[in-house]
Amino acid sequence: MNTIVYKVDPVYPESEKIEQSAIILKRGGLVAFPTETVYGLGADTFNAEAVRRIFKVKQRPIDNPLIIHISSLQEVNKVAYDVPNIAFELMESFFPGPLTLILPRKELVPPEVSAFLPTIALRMPAHRIAIELIKALGSPIAAPSANRSTKVSPVTAEHVLDDLNGEIEAILDGGKTPLGIDSTVVNVLSDPPVILRPGFITYEELKEIIPGVVEFNYSQISDSDFKPVAPGMKYRHYTPQVPMHMFLGEKPYVWEEILKNKILKSEKSVKVGVAISKEGFIYLNQPPDSFSLGSYNDLTEVASRLYLTLREMEKVYDIILIEGCEEKGVGRALMNRLKKASTSIKVV
Ligand code: TXA
Ligand code: MG
Repeated sequence: MNTIVYKVDPVYPESEKIEQSAIILKRGGLVAFPTETVYGLGADTFNAEAVRRIFKVKQRPIDNPLIIHISSLQEVNKVAYDVPNIAFELMESFFPGPLTLILPRKELVPPEVSAFLPTIALRMPAHRIAIELIKALGSPIAAPSANRSTKVSPVTAEHVLDDLNGEIEAILDGGKTPLGIDSTVVNVLSDPPVILRPGFITYEELKEIIPGVVEFNYSQISDSDFKPVAPGMKYRHYTPQVPMHMFLGEKPYVWEEILKNKILKSEKSVKVGVAISKEGFIYLNQPPDSFSLGSYNDLTEVASRLYLTLREMEKVYDIILIEGCEEKGVGRALMNRLKKASTSIKVV
């Protein structure tokens, strides 16, 4: 199959390219598209066969459900029922935006979309291309991130091509996604509501609307005792294709430790790349094979660069050494991804 790449203006998407893509979806094809977080791999939510193909091309475990993307609040009732008030309050504050809510699944939604759970995950992306595509299809779009399973989520059309070229009908290339990290997933059906996946909408922000909201305790689950409350969690995720070692601790010792390890490992003729804060990058005098992730005083910038940097580095290096950040605000989301992706974590 030849994957068509449509270059699209992210602010004023060309309507004929959107229309063409919607036709592909209507016929049961798969189209990758940008959202404000990462690229999604979309199918018509109500086409069970197309949805099954998403799992196949991503090599995604069949028990890991997808997210349903809507373009307006009117569509909530097409896919969900018994929506709790707290969900509407969250929608009012954060839709469109990087927040995904778990809600009861309407019977019309093929169970494949949500891995046969009685619930769905729902979000309204804050990206013109995504919104226009959903509108042109006239129906919500089911989409996971458009990477091959376990790999780092794609933030450019090139990343999608790297993983899925020739296996999907089309990609809407709207350039790099602005936020660069997958949405926050919140289960509003449990008491108290739980953050299943931290993201750009932070625990601190959610607490203002749901004071009782709690974070899922990741240390409590292991593969063997896992119950399907939060399907995505049991899988390895967001993983570079080479080993990655994370360093945490007080500055500047953590930076010195990273440099020391880089030199030690390089002696064994291993190609070592370093991903570090802008502060560390400057402190160490911009050492070779090092990439600044941006200032760790502005973690939104770091989030927007993280996946891009990891995808670049895994092509060149045998090992990645990375500096961890504080688990505050967006830092919780970053550390969630980095912990899942790291082969080892060293506290300096
Ligand atoms: O930002 C994003 O969320 C991107 C863009 C494309 O929207 N999508 C994305 O999808 O990251 P995906 O499939 O990579 O992650 C969806 C997460 C998974 O961890 C999945 O287990 C969880 O949402 N999820 C989906 N449906 C669920 C459900 N019914 N109950 C609990 N968790 C669910
Ligand atoms: Mg994903």
